[in-house]
Amino acid sequence: MAVLVTGGAGYIGSHTVAALLERGEEIVVVDNLQQGHKEAVLGGKLYIGDLRDSELLDTVFQENEIEAVIHFAASSLVGESMGNPAKYYHNNVYGTLCLLEKMSQYKVGTIVFSSTAATYGEPVHLPLDEHDRTLPTNTYGETKLAMERMMHWFDIAHGIKYVSLRYFNAAGAHDSGAIGEDHAPETHLIPLVLQTALGKRPHIAIYGEDYPTEDGTCVRDYIHVSDLADAHLLAVDRLRKGGDSAVYNLGNGQGFSVKQVIDIARQVTGCEIAASAEPRRAGDPAVLIASSRRAHEELGWNPTRSSLENIISSAWAWHTAKPDGYSKR
Ligand code: UFG
Repeated sequence: MAVLVTGGAGYIGSHTVAALLERGEEIVVVDNLQQGHKEAVLGGKLYIGDLRDSELLDTVFQENEIEAVIHFAASSLVGESMGNPAKYYHNNVYGTLCLLEKMSQYKVGTIVFSSTAATYGEPVHLPLDEHDRTLPTNTYGETKLAMERMMHWFDIAHGIKYVSLRYFNAAGAHDSGAIGEDHAPETHLIPLVLQTALGKRPHIAIYGEDYPTEDGTCVRDYIHVSDLADAHLLAVDRLRKGGDSAVYNLGNGQGFSVKQVIDIARQVTGCEIAASAEPRRAGDPAVLIASSRRAHEELGWNPTRSSLENIISSAWAWHTAKPDGYSKR
């Protein structure tokens, strides 16, 4: 019996594949390698292709005994989603529909889903919990919410149980140094700060210093990618034991401002890291902090690697070992 990991060659997917391998699970990965890297898949069987390819999915479900699915495959750039909503509806929403239809056809009744804090939009209270209203402020978050809702209705109609994991800010790299973050283009704060430390960028832009926060810069809840990976295993376990469908936030519960991130990166790397103030980036809420109480109580999830120093040190080890990222795109 195998676990199918869609998008298993991507950043969070590959760390989850590593965690599954560490506990001896049989794994099948499907990834179109648009963002993913072959090299990032440390084991299991890899099918290169797209979820919207019906024949490919038939092959995957017919050649393997799939017991559960962990679904990462999606486009995930907020800015891009605002300029090209069709891409997000097509790849994310339609891609998920194709997957759920095949799961229903091949009687696979378990899915763990990679969701996002972007489903909430502007927070009404902090820390955010799963009862808070969901009113996305960008197309990316809207499509992830639509995918969650689709799973809800497939559960009612076909009994496919799901756990949706809403990540806050994923960062860091695997302890082994074998896998880490490599996006093209890179838009995330921590890798950009570290690329600046490496001299690959002249400075890091601080998007907005006039937010209603202590130092005027945005505050985010950073969580180590391997802590996120662990949550997926716990979510699979919950569903294997017959647990019901559920939604969980995954964050650290602690917020750090952009300036704090840059300061800690200066300490960790010993590099100066030039920074310059720039205008706000469209659609950035001032503060996003998660309450992960439900994941703690119901999944038994306890992040152990998510101090900001540890997150940045692990990312720094990856960036210094692989300054140009994976060898092949
Ligand atoms: N930032 C900068 N300079 C940069 C890049 C980012 O100041 O060069 C700031 C952003 O404005 C933001 C913070 O750093 O305030 C973090 O930005 P990231 O792009 O690293 O992460 P986001 O919080 O925008 O987005 C992340 C995920 C999304 C997800 C969102 C949910 O990348 O997929 O968290 O909270 F939707």
